[in-house]
Amino acid sequence: KISTNPVITQIVEHLNEFPESKVIFMVGAGISTSCGIPDFRSPKTGLYHNLSKLKLPYAEAVFDIEYYKKNPKPFYILANELYPGKFKPSKFHYLMKLFQDKNRLQRIYTQNIDTLEREAGIKSSYVIEAHGSFAENECIECKKKYPLKVFKEKLNEFNKFDKNNIKKFKYARCDNCNGLIKPKIVFFGENLPSEFFETWDEDLELLNNDDKDNSHSNDIVIVAGTSLTVYPFASLHEEIPKAIKRILINFDKAGQFKSSPRNTDLFFKGSSDDAAVELVQNLNWTEEFEKIIGE
Ligand code: OAD
Ligand code: ZN
Repeated sequence: KISTNPVITQIVEHLNEFPESKVIFMVGAGISTSCGIPDFRSPKTGLYHNLSKLKLPYAEAVFDIEYYKKNPKPFYILANELYPGKFKPSKFHYLMKLFQDKNRLQRIYTQNIDTLEREAGIKSSYVIEAHGSFAENECIECKKKYPLKVFKEKLNEFNKFDKNNIKKFKYARCDNCNGLIKPKIVFFGENLPSEFFETWDEDLELLNNDDKDNSHSNDIVIVAGTSLTVYPFASLHEEIPKAIKRILINFDKAGQFKSSPRNTDLFFKGSSDDAAVELVQNLNWTEEFEKIIGE
């Protein structure tokens, strides 16, 4: 161990000073780039940059429900690239798992659809998948639910087609109304799961409660690997009460950390995995960390 980033020192001091306090994580694609999953908006490596080959009217159309109704092909191509199963969690995911094991985790709000939080062994009661996941499928018209394999098998079939000539390929459709079937990933133009709003209301109430015996008054929020550009997810960090410490771990400043920082905000500029390693070392959790990573 050479030197410790002062932001890490401050987080660790806070966690040690208030041993009953918990952490809420708000995370995005940046925590999974080290797993081999590209993020969306990084220049050159981000998915939106590399979608140009799909001739989309605009990059985010790949996640646009109206566009999907007209042309599901770009989403099928993207789904292939992102489909869970072939990726392993990052050090940052395992850090969050350790917070759970140490009873210091309040919640993880994730924008990611890679399910790596679950893969890392974090219980579903702690994880809010704000933008859904590939785990469930439904008809976009009549909302009939379909098992995972319906879309997966279509994707496998899609793979066998020459992408320039897919006229004979039939996209997954509902046997009830013939509407298109799609994984329950939240597209632009769709609502976030009600669980997202309900759980945030509960967590926010705990953070706002200033009774002196409220064990949550010293909780902290760690935002990591997100550009904080997509709403309503980005509004969470704006709604954190002023008395609660906010930390951003990211390559670049984003959201209010950039536009209207509070004097209690902390910013760790760098990779989320590096921050995870430094946190683990300084919290003296190295032994347990190596054990989960090795499993
Ligand atoms: P973005 O691609 O917009 O932002 C990722 C952020 O993580 C950028 O600020 C990067 O600089 C940073 N970053 C990348 N790798 C990192 C690393 N190893 N360590 C630290 N920081 C790193 O991704 P999101 O903010 O997650 O929607 O995007 C939000 C939503 O936009 C996504 O959920 C997706 C997309 O449209 C859906 O899938 C529906
Ligand atoms: Zn239907």
